[in-house]
Amino acid sequence: MSDARPVGIFDSGIGGLNVLHEIRRQQPTEHCVYVADSREAPYGTKSIPYIQGRCGRIVDFLLERGAKAIVVACNAASVAALSHLRRRYAIPFVGIVPAVKPAARMTRSGKIGVLTTPATADSEPLADLVEQFAYNVTVMTQICPGLVPLVERAIVDGAETEQLLRRYLAPLLEGGVDTIVLGCTHYPFLRSSIERICGPGVAIIDPSDAVARQLGRVLAMHGLESMSEDRTGSTRYFTTGDPEEFRAVVEKLIGPVPDPVEHARL
Ligand code: DGL
Repeated sequence: MSDARPVGIFDSGIGGLNVLHEIRRQQPTEHCVYVADSREAPYGTKSIPYIQGRCGRIVDFLLERGAKAIVVACNAASVAALSHLRRRYAIPFVGIVPAVKPAARMTRSGKIGVLTTPATADSEPLADLVEQFAYNVTVMTQICPGLVPLVERAIVDGAETEQLLRRYLAPLLEGGVDTIVLGCTHYPFLRSSIERICGPGVAIIDPSDAVARQLGRVLAMHGLESMSEDRTGSTRYFTTGDPEEFRAVVEKLIGPVPDPVEHARL
Protein backbone atom coordinates (compact mmCIF):
# COMPACT_ATOMS: atom_id res chain seq x y z
CA MET A 1 0.00 0.00 0.00
CA SER A 2 3.00 2.26 -0.32
CA ASP A 3 3.96 4.01 -3.54
CA ALA A 4 7.66 4.84 -3.66
CA ARG A 5 7.56 6.53 -7.06
CA PRO A 6 8.72 10.15 -6.94
CA VAL A 7 6.72 13.36 -6.96
CA GLY A 8 7.78 15.60 -9.85
CA ILE A 9 8.15 19.33 -9.12
CA PHE A 10 9.10 22.05 -11.57
CA ASP A 11 9.54 25.78 -12.02
CA SER A 12 11.13 28.13 -14.53
CA GLY A 13 14.14 28.10 -12.21
CA ILE A 14 14.90 28.05 -8.52
CA GLY A 15 11.64 29.60 -7.23
CA GLY A 16 9.98 26.20 -6.86
CA LEU A 17 12.64 25.23 -4.32
CA ASN A 18 10.56 27.13 -1.76
CA VAL A 19 7.71 24.73 -2.51
CA LEU A 20 10.06 21.73 -2.54
CA HIS A 21 11.32 22.75 0.90
CA GLU A 22 7.76 22.67 2.28
CA ILE A 23 7.07 19.32 0.60
CA ARG A 24 10.25 17.86 2.15
CA ARG A 25 9.13 19.19 5.54
CA GLN A 26 5.52 18.02 5.34
CA GLN A 27 6.00 14.78 3.38
CA PRO A 28 9.48 13.59 4.40
CA THR A 29 8.94 10.05 3.09
CA GLU A 30 8.31 11.16 -0.49
CA HIS A 31 11.03 10.96 -3.12
CA CYS A 32 11.18 14.12 -5.23
CA VAL A 33 12.50 14.96 -8.69
CA TYR A 34 12.91 18.71 -9.24
CA VAL A 35 13.29 20.32 -12.65
CA ALA A 36 14.47 23.92 -13.01
CA ASP A 37 13.96 25.22 -16.53
CA SER A 38 16.78 27.70 -15.85
CA ARG A 39 17.78 28.15 -19.48
CA GLU A 40 14.28 29.43 -20.30
CA ALA A 41 13.67 31.59 -17.19
CA PRO A 42 11.84 33.88 -16.81
CA TYR A 43 8.50 32.42 -17.93
CA GLY A 44 6.57 35.49 -16.80
CA THR A 45 7.30 37.48 -19.95
CA LYS A 46 6.57 34.60 -22.38
CA SER A 47 3.37 33.73 -24.27
CA ILE A 48 0.82 31.16 -23.08
CA PRO A 49 1.51 28.70 -25.97
CA TYR A 50 5.24 28.94 -25.28
CA ILE A 51 4.80 28.23 -21.56
CA GLN A 52 2.40 25.36 -22.32
CA GLY A 53 4.99 23.85 -24.69
CA ARG A 54 7.77 24.00 -22.08
CA CYS A 55 5.48 22.54 -19.40
CA GLY A 56 4.52 19.63 -21.69
CA ARG A 57 8.18 18.78 -22.31
CA ILE A 58 9.02 18.93 -18.61
CA VAL A 59 6.01 16.77 -17.68
CA ASP A 60 7.08 14.15 -20.27
CA PHE A 61 10.59 14.23 -18.77
CA LEU A 62 9.20 13.73 -15.24
CA LEU A 63 6.93 10.91 -16.38
CA GLU A 64 9.95 9.16 -17.94
CA ARG A 65 11.48 9.31 -14.46
CA GLY A 66 8.43 7.62 -12.96
CA ALA A 67 6.58 10.61 -11.45
CA LYS A 68 3.29 9.61 -9.80
CA ALA A 69 2.06 13.20 -9.33
CA ILE A 70 3.36 16.59 -10.44
CA VAL A 71 3.55 19.92 -8.63
CA VAL A 72 3.68 22.93 -10.94
CA ALA A 73 5.66 25.10 -8.51
CA CYS A 74 5.37 28.22 -10.63
CA ASN A 75 2.47 30.69 -10.75
CA ALA A 76 3.13 31.66 -14.38
CA ALA A 77 3.18 28.00 -15.49
CA SER A 78 0.11 27.17 -13.40
CA VAL A 79 -2.05 29.96 -14.78
CA ALA A 80 -0.88 29.37 -18.35
CA ALA A 81 -0.76 25.58 -18.50
CA LEU A 82 -2.40 23.75 -15.60
CA SER A 83 -5.81 23.14 -17.19
CA HIS A 84 -4.07 22.21 -20.47
CA LEU A 85 -1.87 19.68 -18.61
CA ARG A 86 -4.83 18.20 -16.73
CA ARG A 87 -6.64 17.61 -20.02
CA ARG A 88 -3.61 15.99 -21.60
CA TYR A 89 -2.25 13.74 -18.82
CA ALA A 90 -4.02 11.33 -16.48
CA ILE A 91 -1.82 11.79 -13.39
CA PRO A 92 -2.73 14.23 -10.61
CA PHE A 93 -1.37 17.79 -10.76
CA VAL A 94 -1.08 20.39 -8.00
CA GLY A 95 -0.56 24.02 -9.03
CA ILE A 96 0.13 27.31 -7.31
CA VAL A 97 -1.81 30.55 -7.74
CA PRO A 98 -1.54 33.85 -5.86
CA ALA A 99 -3.08 33.53 -2.37
CA VAL A 100 -5.83 36.09 -2.99
CA LYS A 101 -8.41 34.17 -0.98
CA PRO A 102 -6.56 34.16 2.39
CA ALA A 103 -5.37 37.72 1.80
CA ALA A 104 -8.94 38.94 1.22
CA ARG A 105 -9.95 37.27 4.50
CA MET A 106 -7.03 38.74 6.44
CA THR A 107 -7.02 42.37 5.32
CA ARG A 108 -8.33 45.00 7.72
CA SER A 109 -7.75 47.96 5.43
CA GLY A 110 -9.76 46.28 2.67
CA LYS A 111 -6.79 46.64 0.32
CA ILE A 112 -4.45 43.87 -0.74
CA GLY A 113 -1.44 43.84 -3.05
CA VAL A 114 -0.32 41.06 -5.38
CA LEU A 115 3.33 41.07 -6.48
CA THR A 116 3.68 38.99 -9.60
CA THR A 117 4.92 38.54 -13.17
CA PRO A 118 3.15 39.78 -16.34
CA ALA A 119 1.96 36.26 -17.30
CA THR A 120 0.17 35.83 -13.97
CA ALA A 121 -1.05 39.42 -13.69
CA ASP A 122 -2.87 39.27 -17.04
CA SER A 123 -4.27 35.77 -16.56
CA GLU A 124 -7.83 34.56 -16.39
CA PRO A 125 -7.21 32.38 -13.31
CA LEU A 126 -6.10 35.46 -11.33
CA ALA A 127 -9.10 37.47 -12.56
CA ASP A 128 -11.38 34.57 -11.54
CA LEU A 129 -9.82 34.38 -8.06
CA VAL A 130 -10.33 38.11 -7.54
CA GLU A 131 -13.92 37.95 -8.75
CA GLN A 132 -14.75 34.93 -6.59
CA PHE A 133 -12.92 35.68 -3.35
CA ALA A 134 -11.96 39.34 -3.32
CA TYR A 135 -14.99 41.10 -4.79
CA ASN A 136 -15.38 43.12 -1.58
CA VAL A 137 -11.77 44.32 -1.32
CA THR A 138 -9.46 46.40 -3.50
CA VAL A 139 -6.82 44.28 -5.20
CA MET A 140 -3.74 46.11 -6.48
CA THR A 141 -1.70 43.92 -8.82
CA GLN A 142 1.91 44.98 -9.28
CA ILE A 143 4.10 43.37 -11.93
CA CYS A 144 7.76 43.21 -11.00
CA PRO A 145 10.00 42.89 -14.09
CA GLY A 146 13.61 42.14 -13.28
CA LEU A 147 13.16 40.42 -9.93
CA VAL A 148 13.19 36.81 -11.22
CA PRO A 149 16.49 37.27 -13.15
CA LEU A 150 18.07 38.78 -10.01
CA VAL A 151 16.95 35.87 -7.80
CA GLU A 152 18.18 33.42 -10.47
CA ARG A 153 21.63 34.97 -9.92
CA ALA A 154 21.27 34.78 -6.10
CA ILE A 155 21.11 38.58 -5.86
CA VAL A 156 18.49 38.99 -3.13
CA ASP A 157 19.85 42.07 -1.39
CA GLY A 158 22.00 45.07 -2.25
CA ALA A 159 21.33 48.31 -4.09
CA GLU A 160 19.82 46.94 -7.33
CA THR A 161 17.31 44.68 -5.59
CA GLU A 162 16.43 47.31 -3.01
CA GLN A 163 15.78 49.93 -5.70
CA LEU A 164 13.50 47.63 -7.72
CA LEU A 165 11.60 46.47 -4.64
CA ARG A 166 11.05 50.02 -3.42
CA ARG A 167 9.78 51.03 -6.86
CA TYR A 168 7.30 48.11 -6.98
CA LEU A 169 6.18 48.36 -3.37
CA ALA A 170 5.70 52.16 -3.31
CA PRO A 171 2.31 52.24 -5.16
CA LEU A 172 0.97 49.44 -2.95
CA LEU A 173 2.06 51.11 0.28
CA GLU A 174 0.81 54.52 -0.87
CA GLY A 175 -2.46 52.82 -1.81
CA GLY A 176 -2.89 51.58 1.76
CA VAL A 177 -2.51 47.80 1.40
CA ASP A 178 -1.98 45.91 4.66
CA THR A 179 -1.55 42.46 3.06
CA ILE A 180 0.78 41.51 0.22
CA VAL A 181 0.63 38.22 -1.66
CA LEU A 182 3.85 36.79 -3.13
CA GLY A 183 2.47 35.79 -6.53
CA CYS A 184 5.66 34.25 -7.86
CA THR A 185 7.60 31.41 -6.24
CA HIS A 186 10.89 33.29 -6.64
CA TYR A 187 9.75 36.11 -4.34
CA PRO A 188 10.00 34.29 -0.98
CA PHE A 189 13.77 34.60 -1.45
CA LEU A 190 13.19 38.38 -1.24
CA ARG A 191 10.89 38.16 1.74
CA SER A 192 13.15 39.71 4.36
CA SER A 193 13.84 42.73 2.12
CA ILE A 194 10.12 43.07 1.34
CA GLU A 195 9.25 42.86 5.05
CA ARG A 196 11.86 45.46 5.95
CA ILE A 197 10.61 47.91 3.31
CA CYS A 198 6.93 47.37 4.18
CA GLY A 199 7.36 47.47 7.96
CA PRO A 200 5.44 45.50 10.59
CA GLY A 201 1.98 46.77 9.59
CA VAL A 202 1.92 44.72 6.38
CA ALA A 203 1.40 40.93 6.33
CA ILE A 204 3.24 38.98 3.62
CA ILE A 205 1.61 35.79 2.34
CA ASP A 206 3.52 32.94 0.69
CA PRO A 207 1.33 29.98 -0.30
CA SER A 208 4.17 27.37 -0.47
CA ASP A 209 3.01 25.56 2.68
CA ALA A 210 -0.58 25.42 1.39
CA VAL A 211 0.67 23.81 -1.84
CA ALA A 212 2.54 21.13 0.12
CA ARG A 213 -0.61 20.47 2.20
CA GLN A 214 -2.65 20.16 -0.98
CA LEU A 215 -0.12 17.68 -2.36
CA GLY A 216 -0.55 15.61 0.83
CA ARG A 217 -4.34 15.58 0.34
CA VAL A 218 -4.03 14.64 -3.35
CA LEU A 219 -1.59 11.79 -2.68
CA ALA A 220 -3.84 10.42 0.08
CA MET A 221 -6.96 10.72 -2.07
CA HIS A 222 -5.36 8.73 -4.91
CA GLY A 223 -3.64 6.18 -2.64
CA LEU A 224 -0.23 7.36 -3.83
CA GLU A 225 1.53 8.03 -0.53
CA SER A 226 4.99 6.67 0.18
CA MET A 227 4.88 4.95 3.58
CA SER A 228 8.56 4.03 3.92
CA GLU A 229 9.59 3.33 7.50
CA ASP A 230 12.91 5.16 7.46
CA ARG A 231 11.23 8.49 6.55
CA THR A 232 14.02 9.58 4.27
CA GLY A 233 12.81 10.55 0.83
CA SER A 234 15.54 11.44 -1.65
CA THR A 235 15.70 14.48 -3.97
CA ARG A 236 17.08 14.52 -7.49
CA TYR A 237 17.70 17.88 -9.13
CA PHE A 238 17.73 18.62 -12.84
CA THR A 239 18.33 21.93 -14.59
CA THR A 240 18.13 22.86 -18.26
CA GLY A 241 20.97 25.28 -17.52
CA ASP A 242 24.41 24.65 -16.08
CA PRO A 243 24.30 22.21 -13.10
CA GLU A 244 27.30 23.84 -11.41
CA GLU A 245 25.73 27.29 -11.68
CA PHE A 246 22.47 25.92 -10.25
CA ARG A 247 24.35 24.35 -7.35
CA ALA A 248 26.27 27.57 -6.64
CA VAL A 249 23.10 29.70 -6.63
CA VAL A 250 21.19 27.28 -4.40
CA GLU A 251 24.13 27.01 -2.00
CA LYS A 252 24.24 30.78 -1.74
CA LEU A 253 20.50 31.15 -1.13
CA ILE A 254 19.66 28.03 0.86
CA GLY A 255 22.76 26.05 1.81
CA PRO A 256 24.70 22.96 0.72
CA VAL A 257 23.06 20.68 -1.85
CA PRO A 258 23.92 17.15 -0.78
CA ASP A 259 22.10 15.55 -3.72
CA PRO A 260 23.22 15.25 -7.35
CA VAL A 261 22.38 18.04 -9.83
CA GLU A 262 22.06 16.79 -13.39
CA HIS A 263 21.57 18.47 -16.73
CA ALA A 264 18.17 17.98 -18.40
CA ARG A 265 18.28 18.14 -22.18
CA LEU A 266 14.88 19.64 -22.89
N1 DGL B 1 8.55 31.14 -10.17
C1 DGL B 1 7.78 31.61 -11.29
C2 DGL B 1 6.36 31.98 -10.81
O1 DGL B 1 5.97 31.56 -9.75
C3 DGL B 1 8.54 32.67 -11.95
C4 DGL B 1 7.99 33.14 -13.21
C5 DGL B 1 9.03 33.51 -14.19
O2 DGL B 1 9.87 32.68 -14.51
O3 DGL B 1 8.93 34.64 -14.66
O4 DGL B 1 5.63 32.67 -11.47
